[in-house]
Amino acid sequence: MPAVDDKYELESIMIPSDDIKRRVRDLASRIESAYRGQEITLAGVLKGAAIFMSDLAREIGPTVDVRMDFMAVSSYGNSSTSSGVVKIVKDMDASVEDKHIILVEDIMDTGLTIAYLKEMLSTRSPRSFKTCVLLEKPERKKVDSEIDYRGFTIADEFVVGYGLDYAGKWRHLPDIWRLSRAPR
Ligand code: PRP
Repeated sequence: MPAVDDKYELESIMIPSDDIKRRVRDLASRIESAYRGQEITLAGVLKGAAIFMSDLAREIGPTVDVRMDFMAVSSYGNSSTSSGVVKIVKDMDASVEDKHIILVEDIMDTGLTIAYLKEMLSTRSPRSFKTCVLLEKPERKKVDSEIDYRGFTIADEFVVGYGLDYAGKWRHLPDIWRLSRAPR
């Protein structure tokens, strides 16, 4: 039965792992077709994107020279609402200049994080810049940031699993779950 947290509990599965796997394979195959014979850098935003990016990378075949890099930013802290402030806690290790960059995110909520990172990385003269986002919540959007490779569009519900957390918990779950408030 669902694990209970002091404020929220797992309610029901929103996206089962098999659906996620299928969608990740689709995205990888689109990326593979677009970049065959070329080098790309998947730039994951920690920690949420770690699981999605590892699965995505493994589904892109050997015809693409895939490099992996990570950034860490702070936006929400432990709260579930966006502050709009994006701070770079860890930058990418490799240079972005003249590279095909695909920014990989687990979720676009307000869009502020992606908008900020897109602007920041664009000043570093990449050869191209695209975004790959597993989940998009259009109802929450505050800024219009384009997603090039999108997994799922979801309603404005609090979700965890497959990299997404609540106060650090539940990232490891293979399915994406809805949360609901725990009864007191
Ligand atoms: C989440 C997510 C994005 C950001 C999206 O990160 O991974 O980076 O919020 O929100 P936005 O579109 O409103 O800017 P979070 O701060 O929860 O950190 P985490 O990835 O370590 O879980």
